[in-house]
Amino acid sequence: MNRQIFDCLVWAAYLTDWKGPAEGEQPSGYIVILGDKTITENFRCDHGIAAQTILLGAREIGLGGCMLAAINHKKLRPLLNVGDELEVLLVIALGRPAERVCLEDVGVDGSIRYWRDSDGVHHVPKRSLDEMIVSVH
Ligand SMILES: Cc1cc2nc3c(=O)[nH]c(=O)nc-3n(C[C@H](O)[C@H](O)[C@H](O)COP(=O)(O)O)c2cc1C
Repeated sequence: MNRQIFDCLVWAAYLTDWKGPAEGEQPSGYIVILGDKTITENFRCDHGIAAQTILLGAREIGLGGCMLAAINHKKLRPLLNVGDELEVLLVIALGRPAERVCLEDVGVDGSIRYWRDSDGVHHVPKRSLDEMIVSVH
């Protein structure tokens, strides 16, 4: 089932020559966050809050994870028997972390495109806190 769910997801779209985690390093479990449309049609940011909380909790117990929204819905819905009243909002992939990830400062060109070096280390540019805070009074 994990393999079938993996095949419904798009990993790191910026990295066109990287097909995602290699065999043996793929997620060992997934949480699919669903929205119940009989309750509301507008889930606002609730699934994002839930996903981030789950990921922080996962980290706390030594797991790594990634939230994914690039989902092949046509493939995933029948695979998991998702009913018509439910919307697939996010998929969270979980597992024991194997990747080396390096946070980088965003360069002068402002690009936030991540890259992998020849040792397979994943570099992720992050904006500085100063840039994120619009104003302080
Ligand atoms: C709403 C949302 C959707 C995302 N969807 C995908 C996705 O479909 N595929 C993917 O590889 N990364 C996706 N990401 C990026 C990863 O979840 C993760 O945020 C990114 O690798 C940066 O990791 P970091 O925040 O731990 O630095 C998404 C992030 C967010 C916030």
